[in-house]
Amino acid sequence: MSLPFAYHAGQLACDGRPLAELARAHGTPLYVYSAAALRENYRRLAAAFAPLDPLICFAVKSNANVSLLRRLRELGAGFDIVSGGELHCALAAGSEPDRIVFAGVGKTDAELAAGLEARVGWFNVESADELARLNALAAARGGRARVAFRLNPDVEPDTHHHIRTGGGRSKFGLPLAEARALAARWGDFPALDLRGVHIHIGSQVADAGATVRALQVTLDFIQAVPGLDTLDIGGGFPVPYRATDDYPPIEAFAAPIVELLRPWAGRLHFHLEPGRYLVCTAGALVTTVQAVKQMAGGRIVIVDTGMHHLLRPALYDAYHEIVAVAEPAPGALAPADVAGPICESSDFLGHDRQLPALRPGDQLAVLNAGAYGYSMASNYNAQPRPAEVLVEAGEVRLIRQRETWADLTRLDAPAV
Ligand code: LLP
Repeated sequence: MSLPFAYHAGQLACDGRPLAELARAHGTPLYVYSAAALRENYRRLAAAFAPLDPLICFAVKSNANVSLLRRLRELGAGFDIVSGGELHCALAAGSEPDRIVFAGVGKTDAELAAGLEARVGWFNVESADELARLNALAAARGGRARVAFRLNPDVEPDTHHHIRTGGGRSKFGLPLAEARALAARWGDFPALDLRGVHIHIGSQVADAGATVRALQVTLDFIQAVPGLDTLDIGGGFPVPYRATDDYPPIEAFAAPIVELLRPWAGRLHFHLEPGRYLVCTAGALVTTVQAVKQMAGGRIVIVDTGMHHLLRPALYDAYHEIVAVAEPAPGALAPADVAGPICESSDFLGHDRQLPALRPGDQLAVLNAGAYGYSMASNYNAQPRPAEVLVEAGEVRLIRQRETWADLTRLDAPAV
């Protein structure tokens, strides 16, 4: 993993650019990304799976900023999208439509039609009803669409229960028996070509064993159904968020998958759908201290961001490293909870962290915030969402403006 945020001359910097300087220029809260880390993560993932020569489809849900998508496209990425909105983002980033995989458990007719209109490469279909609707829409247009079945392999990985998707009782994918039955009556779907299978059993998958088991189920399916030439392995590649996280490096995670699939490389094309692995370490959320309080539970540091801009700690109890932007003196650390301004008692970014003495105006950085940070942000408590900047080759570019108070009422009808 590339770790672009490090102290230089007493100041936390992103690829050499001090975060305090970026915060002065752009204000806080501020998402800061490293283009070098993005590229390094992409290169490392591609190298780990190189024997399979996969199409790497970046999972747009993890970060939909068009400038980041554009850089990934330049590296050779396609895109895994799950909505018409993500299709719009991928096309805005200049993606070739045939390198887009349209996944998602609840695509509407309008979204399927937009995918057909754009001629996306693949529809990863998750239900018989979606299949029938897609067939009808494609037939009405006089066109054809290429389909992969998202299989539910009934394999549970070891990860947080909110981000497991492979189990038989989850809402995701087609049960195997139903997928077989649909394939057997393919004549009912004359506007569709069934060419692939897709799995995605969860996110932060702790070891590749579960993925290998799910892939074995998938390979059995491929052998039983004629005409399948593409296998989409999904995403879920793990990233450590703290020193004690015991996740394998991507090379070790990939090795048993590559070993299993290498004999198939002549017959199958492969897709991957990484989100977190590519962007997580590339981003940090910079925030300014507003107040420090001594409460019965200890020191609480209130900052200008929280669950509305980084939901993961509140939603999943997720751990994100929080560090002071000005490098603390050795031994100057004491415990603190870090909380946001939102009127919810779950609005904490971290509990019991080691931080220096802090005053209003001091800055903190929440690390590993590049994935599922901005993309899950909201306007709760009528808080504008942060700006985003990209550090690239020594330059700092604003890649998304900070929302304003006026933006918050822009779509409201004039008061009625
Ligand atoms: N493909 C499919 C079909 C997915 O559902 C997902 C993630 C991915 C790929 C990308 O997974 P990744 O490589 O990023 O693990 N909000 C949660 C994660 C939810 C993931 C949902 N699906 C979090 O913040 O941890």
